[in-house]
Amino acid sequence: MSEAERVYTDHFLLDENTVIDFVRENLDYFHQEASLHVKEIGDGNINYVFRIWDDKTGQSLVVKQADKRLKSSGRPLGVYRNKIEAEILKLQNAFAPGKVPHIYHYSEPMCALTMEDISDFKNLRIALLEGNIYENLSQEITDFMVQVLLSTTDLLMNRHLKKDLVKKFTNVELCDISEDLVFTEPYFNYKNRNIITKGNEAFVNSVLYADEPLKKEVGVLRNTFMNASQALIHGDLHSGSIFINETGIKIIDPEFAFYGPIGYDVGNVIGNLFFSLANKIVMAPDHIEFISWIKQTIAAIFDQFKEKALHKLKTEVTFPLYNASFIEDYVANIMSDTVGMAGTEMIRRIVGDTKVKDLDLITDIKEKIKMERGLIFSATSFIKNRDKYKRGIDLINEFDRYRKGVNL
Ligand SMILES: Nc1ncnc2c1ncn2[C@@H]1O[C@H](COP(=O)(O)OP(=O)(O)OP(=O)(O)O)[C@@H](O)[C@H]1O
Ligand SMILES: [Mg+2]
Repeated sequence: MSEAERVYTDHFLLDENTVIDFVRENLDYFHQEASLHVKEIGDGNINYVFRIWDDKTGQSLVVKQADKRLKSSGRPLGVYRNKIEAEILKLQNAFAPGKVPHIYHYSEPMCALTMEDISDFKNLRIALLEGNIYENLSQEITDFMVQVLLSTTDLLMNRHLKKDLVKKFTNVELCDISEDLVFTEPYFNYKNRNIITKGNEAFVNSVLYADEPLKKEVGVLRNTFMNASQALIHGDLHSGSIFINETGIKIIDPEFAFYGPIGYDVGNVIGNLFFSLANKIVMAPDHIEFISWIKQTIAAIFDQFKEKALHKLKTEVTFPLYNASFIEDYVANIMSDTVGMAGTEMIRRIVGDTKVKDLDLITDIKEKIKMERGLIFSATSFIKNRDKYKRGIDLINEFDRYRKGVNL
């Protein structure tokens, strides 16, 4: 530990004044005489994010600090998530260079990571709500997922090293949040936290709460989430964790990371892009170019991930029993999990208490009810019939079919 770091041996919450000293004392990044500016830019509930910059040189960086309590309720939350975030960003950068912010410094006692400022990239959810089209999205995100996810499976990674990582990335508290919010409460409202759009209560009762075959399939997906230590997954790969511009993507906020099923990440990306599509269908139905592009992109993410995963495994796996036939089954299972977990993500965002802007922005309540039903019908089919969808376009066609069939 350096002399400077010793000053920060006990966790205290940084603010716009103290974070400048923290950065000066721990990093040689800025010139000693630089006049630094700072702004808190975090928009979340459990961490603080500061941007610090020098106008003169244009240099900047970002400090993200984990709090030991939730900002909203004051409930304690362990800070191990912050170590996980620092460690996984380094690993992801090794497997997918440049696709995550570079880490400059990590202070374990302060639960603070200092990283590259990615302000040149836009939050994908917001960018899509603004109607921006990114021709590079499907290639970039599938490259990232294939590089990081497949490389951390024991098909490609030394199996002892993989088991060390499984231990290191055991993320009890944040997995617990997903197990409840994604895989339990939307179907069994035992904590009474679900928030259902007024007018959709009876629909949710019959289509989710009372559907036993659906519950069984969600149970299977939950069990996979909890027990398939397949790859080092991001764990929260929604469109607000993806930042983009014409040159590429940067993936942030992997504090939910753990060794879990690959389909959870791929399904999260796809599920959340359905919300971008849903928003535009209601709010900007004339924006045909965007609607057609986002449909193609959702389909392309499914197809390209599958194709690139097959290619990577068939060219790089050496273990003799993992032959072509094994690899085809392995990838088919990932795609089946992907479809099911796109479904669970779509449902939890509509019925659970963590909403998405894409739907919140729909002000016409009748249209919102209709769209939510179309999305929920599609999602339940994705969950129940997840082996059936072999191409990305099948998901889009299913959604279009259900959406057009909703009558109030
Ligand atoms: N490296 C970075 N460069 C620029 N901006 C960043 C960076 N990291 C985070 N941000 C900004 O801060 C916001 C919050 O970051 P992040 O999502 O990591 O925080 P969080 O507290 O974990 O949020 P959540 O509650 O959504 O999980 C991001 O949406 C982004 O606008
Ligand atoms: Mg977060």
